[in-house]
Amino acid sequence: MDISEIRAAVDRELPGVRADLERLVRIPGIAFPGFDHSQVQRSAEATAELLRGCGLEVEIVRAGGQPAVIGTRPAPPGAPTVLLYAHHDVQPVGDQARWDSDPFTPTERDGRLYGRGSADDKAGVMAHVAALRAMGDALPVGVVVFVEGEEEFGSESLERLLAERREEISADVIVIADSGNWDVGVPALTTSLRGIVNFTVEVRTLASAVHSGMFGGAVPDALTALCRLLATLHDDAGDVAVAGLTRRPAAPLDYEPERLRAEAGMVDGVDLIGTGPVVERLWTRPALSVLGIDAPATGEAPNALVPSAKALVSLRIAPGENPTKAYEAVQAHLGTHAPWGAQVTATLVQDGAPFAIDADGPAYDAARAAFRAAWDGVEPVDIGVGGSIPFIATFAEMFPDAAILVTGVEDPYAKAHGPNESLHLGEFARVCLAEALLLHHRGERS
Ligand code: BES
Ligand code: MN
Repeated sequence: MDISEIRAAVDRELPGVRADLERLVRIPGIAFPGFDHSQVQRSAEATAELLRGCGLEVEIVRAGGQPAVIGTRPAPPGAPTVLLYAHHDVQPVGDQARWDSDPFTPTERDGRLYGRGSADDKAGVMAHVAALRAMGDALPVGVVVFVEGEEEFGSESLERLLAERREEISADVIVIADSGNWDVGVPALTTSLRGIVNFTVEVRTLASAVHSGMFGGAVPDALTALCRLLATLHDDAGDVAVAGLTRRPAAPLDYEPERLRAEAGMVDGVDLIGTGPVVERLWTRPALSVLGIDAPATGEAPNALVPSAKALVSLRIAPGENPTKAYEAVQAHLGTHAPWGAQVTATLVQDGAPFAIDADGPAYDAARAAFRAAWDGVEPVDIGVGGSIPFIATFAEMFPDAAILVTGVEDPYAKAHGPNESLHLGEFARVCLAEALLLHHRGERS
């Protein structure tokens, strides 16, 4: 196949790919505890069916966690094997009322497809399917498609699963379609990702609740104590105040504060936090955010001092950081900053390693060439991202010689994890084409 034939083949496949993407979006496969995991199974089965349709040998596999799907097609003699990664599970939808259309009813508005997982990462799954369908029997490489089923819940059983399936997933190149591009119209190769350390911190000041009028003023409530403790995590400028965490320089890209404010939807008057280049704050330095608090709800709280309160805190860690060491640094900080002698208990919830790549070599050049062609000559940029894909470090450890290409369908307006998540359909078409071209080039090089 030549390049114009590949373009035509991708265009031919796109309507069917779009229909199958919508089918996936209708399945609410959420791996978090408390959700209906039979839906994750359904989502794995739907994914398996799609991969079988691409002529792969397919198996649904699990190692104690949620089901992943592995599809394989052996390499022609002498050709390399490319592993294509995505995940089929999605984040919970949060407050349904904040969605403009039902999260599990794919809906197109203004060139975007709305729905939970429409971008993160069911479009990643479908980009692989699109490339395989377009290449058909002309596929010049071997492929292993690995579609994880619990990425959004921290990939707890992943290491076991990969160890058990080492033979099947071994590859020379891996394409991870779970990141995004620099902007609509500007492709990117993701060369660094932060790691993650999520933990809860519980503060206790009282054996049980007591009258707030009788005791308030001399007896501390746990919620105020928790707030004071959380407030020590940043300095006044908003930089993380926990000692001993790693930071490093980021790719020298200009991320205009105004652009960041618009993309994040910051309300008028709110300041950015931290100091230094925006890309460093987002990609290569630690970040601490409070994700939730367990405490009496305002509509139900009696006039009583709160005896204990718990926060879920998320620490993002820079490439080069070790999650275990980072958590130790946090524990040391919490231990020395407990206000008013309050009892403080930290509990690790999940962690995942960061990752950074030296993106030089033939596989990276082939990826950049594929991007350039798919975006009509626009030069791709190397970016970092602040999010995490724990799979990457695990895979890199197992296969240190494999080239790791982190691509993806997200654009700055995709709103992954939030309400009204969406996929830019024009960019999605380019991602599909780029991946088909990439598979084609890898074959050419062998
Ligand atoms: N697709 C994201 C990772 C990502 C985020 C890439 C932002 C590019 C930009 C991925 O699905 C994700 O959200 N991962 C989780 C991992 C966690 C649960 C261990 C994350 O970053 O919160
Ligand atoms: Mn994702």
